[in-house]
Amino acid sequence: MTNQTTSTDPRPILVTAATGKTGRRVVELLESNAIPSRRASRSAPVPFDWTDHTTYAPNLKGVRAAYIVYTPDLSIPRAQDDIRAFENAAIDVGVERLVLLSGRGEPAAEACENIVRASGLEYTLVRAAWFNQNFDEGDFLPMILEGTLALPAGDVAEPFIDADDIAEVVFASLTQHGHNTELYELTGPRAITFHEVAQILSAQTDRPITYAPITMDQFKAGLADAGVPSDHIDLLEYVMSHTLDGRGIHPQDGVQRALGRPPKDFTAYATQAAESGIWSPQTPAPSA
Ligand SMILES: NC(=O)c1ccc[n+]([C@@H]2O[C@H](COP(=O)([O-])OP(=O)(O)OC[C@H]3O[C@@H](n4cnc5c(N)ncnc54)[C@H](OP(=O)(O)O)[C@@H]3O)[C@@H](O)[C@H]2O)c1
Repeated sequence: MTNQTTSTDPRPILVTAATGKTGRRVVELLESNAIPSRRASRSAPVPFDWTDHTTYAPNLKGVRAAYIVYTPDLSIPRAQDDIRAFENAAIDVGVERLVLLSGRGEPAAEACENIVRASGLEYTLVRAAWFNQNFDEGDFLPMILEGTLALPAGDVAEPFIDADDIAEVVFASLTQHGHNTELYELTGPRAITFHEVAQILSAQTDRPITYAPITMDQFKAGLADAGVPSDHIDLLEYVMSHTLDGRGIHPQDGVQRALGRPPKDFTAYATQAAESGIWSPQTPAPSA
């Protein structure tokens, strides 16, 4: 691996999901290194929407590389068509390099990886474990604030990866030589159970947070009661049953291979997140 940059190129790098957990961090890294970037999402000045193929070309025009974060997940039925259409639009306007964020253990995500592999462009595949940031920026935050992490995950362990590490690997892959055709499987340094997650978060927040293993049916019923749309419930069932069944427990060396350093540990992440105050109970506003 070499870290020689290609940053003298004046053409911007397109970052999809630019306001999301990894996209936001990739944009920050590009900006702090004075590398031109273009933010893509539905709320961007030139809107980008995965469900509307006509938004692809206007966003890709003039860019040299693109970071692909497909939302909500590469396992939904239309994902392969959308990735293929995005890739064709990228080829048409002369994009040279693609970096795809993928998930571990999902056959449908691997089908999308293969589409990018066959593009004829330079590419890097970044296959990530569950993110640490689900607990402070994502779906698990409300449960942490309530004090009970209720999930259908049994006693399975997961080697959670930090979004900062993912963003650094993506940044390197987008801007440096030496990452073409690589598949980086990104995990944290150790697998921990949700019981251990709850213990670490309790210690960091100084208040009790417990893990309550529930069945998939209980989980789905709770989501339905909370008004979550049925297609999103189906998606969560697919992702959880394909990634939290023990197949992903072994830590991998993707961060070390890509960056030459070990990944961040979950406890270090939790210490930083706790210091930000995100898990502190809100003080009620004084009544008028
Ligand atoms: N979270 C994890 O633990 C995890 C683990 C492995 C892989 N992944 C993969 O990472 C990807 C992102 O997942 P995430 O849940 O962490 O989301 P995220 O990147 O934190 O956030 C969603 C982002 O996508 C944009 N977005 C939402 N719907 C869109 C649409 N229809 N078209 C274009 N942009 C859209 C949002 O901006 P706007 O609202 O402005 O559009 C926002 O920037 C998924 O492919 C997921 O499978 C996640």
